[in-house]
Amino acid sequence: SIRDRVFKHKNYNFLVGHTTPEYIDSLESFEIKDSDVFVVTYPKSGTVWAQQIIISIHELHGNQNKYSNNMERMPWLEYKTAEYTLLPSPRLFASHLPEHIMPPGVKEKKILYLMRNPKDNVVSFYHFKCQITGCIMPLYSFASSWFDHVREWYLNREQYNILFLTYEEMILDLKASVKKICNFLGINLTEAAISQVVEKATFQNMKNDTKANYEHLSPERFSGKFLRKGQIGDWKNTLTVAQSERVDQVLQEKLGDLPLSFIWE
Ligand code: PPS
Repeated sequence: SIRDRVFKHKNYNFLVGHTTPEYIDSLESFEIKDSDVFVVTYPKSGTVWAQQIIISIHELHGNQNKYSNNMERMPWLEYKTAEYTLLPSPRLFASHLPEHIMPPGVKEKKILYLMRNPKDNVVSFYHFKCQITGCIMPLYSFASSWFDHVREWYLNREQYNILFLTYEEMILDLKASVKKICNFLGINLTEAAISQVVEKATFQNMKNDTKANYEHLSPERFSGKFLRKGQIGDWKNTLTVAQSERVDQVLQEKLGDLPLSFIWE
């Protein structure tokens, strides 16, 4: 059951087998380097997309990339998959951690916080975690923390050097988004190099890119594809009217006081 697959620690759900409470606790003293870069997301908000973009930007900027997949070049902070002190500089990390668990040293370091409208987010999550959750729309379990995740990061944004970007604006104008990310990272690329980053980050190219599509990962752990549909508005094909209204209601309750808006279609 889901209870065997997930453990709750510091008020956040982690997948059993991917990390431990001890490792999460150790992050309190995780040593940060000046050049570290982080992408933070609630799962299924475009993490692997941002990884591909940030890795490509660094590669075109002259940082070699000898890794066999993006997860090795830009691992998840909360899943210790390598000796992180040995990663080349600049170290690139992805993370789904909520703000209250982020290593304190990350404050003032560069964070790209990527968010996606909660209806498409939950649909993407549903397809991905189908096996784990028994194909139940995780509206009341997993998804509740989407709201907390966004709220907490948004409310604490001033303590960080943070760029908020949405999945939807990346879909609508990938090139402009890549430029925003370059500016934020302080990396100046030529127009041609920017076009190359964009090309590598299209849905179709990522789907065929063995470094980016994560199809080498065990299907028992990840029942769904990381690159599934890649569109805005798939919730309309999936959520019932009642489920959609429920999201509207919780969104209003949990985030209604914040100046956040989302693109739904
Ligand atoms: S995870 O498991 O948290 O790392 O997943 P994450 O990468 O955050 O989210 C996966 C969704 O992002 C979509 N995706 C893309 N969409 C458009 N273009 C590109 N290049 C792209 N790369 C990833 C992916 O398809 C998942 O969304 P859905 O709606 O399920 O297709």
